[in-house]
Parts: sequence; C-alpha cells; structure tokens
Amino acid sequence: MKGRSILTIEDLAEAEVMHLLQLATQLKAKKKAGVRGDLLTGKHIALVFEKASTRTRCAATVAALDEGGTAEYLDARDIHLGKKESVADTARVLGRMFDGIMFRGYRQKTVVELAKHAGVPVWNGLTDDWHPTQALADLMTIQEHFGGLDDLKVVYVGNGKNNVSNSLMLGCAGLGVGFVSCNPEELSPQTDLVEAASKMAAKKGTLVEISHDPKEAVKGANVIYTDVWVSMGEESKLAERLELLRPYQVDMAMMHATGNVGNGRLIFLHCLPAFHGVGTDSISEHGEMEVTDDVFESEMSKVFDLAENRMHTIRALMVATVA
Ligand code: CP
Ligand code: NVA
Repeated sequence: MKGRSILTIEDLAEAEVMHLLQLATQLKAKKKAGVRGDLLTGKHIALVFEKASTRTRCAATVAALDEGGTAEYLDARDIHLGKKESVADTARVLGRMFDGIMFRGYRQKTVVELAKHAGVPVWNGLTDDWHPTQALADLMTIQEHFGGLDDLKVVYVGNGKNNVSNSLMLGCAGLGVGFVSCNPEELSPQTDLVEAASKMAAKKGTLVEISHDPKEAVKGANVIYTDVWVSMGEESKLAERLELLRPYQVDMAMMHATGNVGNGRLIFLHCLPAFHGVGTDSISEHGEMEVTDDVFESEMSKVFDLAENRMHTIRALMVATVA
C-alpha cells in the first residue's frame, strides 16, 4: 500500500482493510509489550486540521512518534491554506517537506485536492462526508471483542447521513458484517451509498438495511453504535435534530430490546465525543442526547477501547503507506 492516499473507506479493498486490522493488532501488542518501533524513523507527518479534534490528532501524533517519526500539527487557521495560498500549492509545499499528510476539515474536495498534488500519502482524518480512519478503529474494536467479524449484526442508530455513519456502513458491508441503519426518514443514509453498500454486502452474503423503527431494528444486534446528533459545522441544526432524533436515543430499554444484554454478545460503541449528560458547554445543556449515561458507563460500553484503537489503526495506516 506504499504511497497510497486514503480519502474514503471505499479506497480500501477488503484484503487491505483486513491487512490493516491485522497490522494494527500487531502494533498494539508491540506497544503493550513496551517495544519501541522504528518503522517511521526519519519520516515526518503533517496534521492539517480545520476542525477540532482530541482523538484523531493525538492518535496520529503518538502513532508517528511511537514508530520513530515526527508529527507537526498545523491548525488550518494558522497557515495560508485556501486563503493566501491555494490547496494545490499548499499540497506541493507540504509534499516537499513531509512524508505523509493527515487532513481534517469540512469539504471532501479539499482532501481530494491535497492528495492530487502532494505527491505523498494523504489520509482523511474526517471531512463532512467521510471518516475512514474511524471506521478502521470501529472494525478493529468489533473484531477484538467478538474474536472475528462473522455472524454479527451492527446497528447504527441516529443521523444516518454523517461522516461516521457513511464510513461504518461501507466498512461493514465490505467485510460482510450485517448492518442496519436506523433513523428518521429525513436522516436516512444517501441512496447511492446504500446501493453501493448493498452491492458489497450481497457479494459477502450479508445485508445492509434501513429502518425507521428502533425497537425492530435492534433485535438481535451485537453492536449498537451512535454518534452526535449535530456534527461539527452543523450547530445551527440543533433544534431540528433534537426533535427528529429524540426517539432514537440509545437507552437501556433499547439495549434490552436487542435480546443480547447479559450474554456477552452485545457492545455499545460511539466514535466520541459524546453527549451523555455531562459537561457544561452550550450544546450539552440539553442533557443526555444520543446516549444515556447508564448505557455509556455500562460494562457493555467499549467506547474507550475504541478511542485507543484509533491510535493503533492510524499507526498501521501510516506504516503501510509510508514506511
Ligand atoms: N472520533 C474522533 O474523530 O474524535 P476527535 O474528533 O476527538 O478526533
Ligand atoms: N460526526 C461527528 C464525528 C466526530 C468525530 C462530527 O463530524 O462532528
């Protein structure tokens, strides 16, 4: 995979995703054993971020350092990107100095343009449309918990039109993990993406389904996944989302409706950050939003395993494409 850019989860073939998950698992074991890596020695990684980030930024920084490389965080507001200097020119400059670039921001077009001109691998660290490195960590966490990816049902509940949902749907479909997206009609996944995912799933003998009925959708689920009701950049839509998504809040009743509570065959995942009833900023004054605190804090919740796995999967991606 040397030299490759990853801009959406669709850029990765099934075998490549499996390879990255395996590599991430090996790198995780190596880190747990206290063995320092040197696979990125002499390699420099630029992190160009337009939007805020805790996990992705830290995961990429530590991943690069743990393999002997360096990471330079560039807040897009501090550099000339798209203002005094075009994206293409910025890409050509950064590509002369760095060996890989992670971009987080608004438009998918920007990361595509960076990749076109950088001459080094560019990784999408989240845009409005896609969050492929999140999907890699999602799949790793599911595989880790269940010891494989066969015979599983993942149910994503909430806004089916966002970056995390798009990436998880295509990621699950490509690996033959049964997937249901449960949302109000207005927030169901884009038809073309559902069609693409369904075709991939059919090849693997699994299904991608859309549901508007949480109680029905979650029956038999092994993974209940949700994300925030308003993504970064959508803050003005809060009132309408609260109205639409209240019935789709993940609570204990929903977990019980799976029929799998207590048998070890059910986990809760969230990409984080989550509004689960804590915090004081303006958006969380609405209290629990996409998930209730009892689910978030339960034994079934593997959200912090998932957060950690962001680091191992991003490290695998860097090693596979740069080393
Ligand atoms: N899940 C995720 O991408 O988190 P950050 O926004 O903190 O990077
Ligand atoms: N959908 C969320 C994911 C954050 C990691 C957002 O884009 O804000």
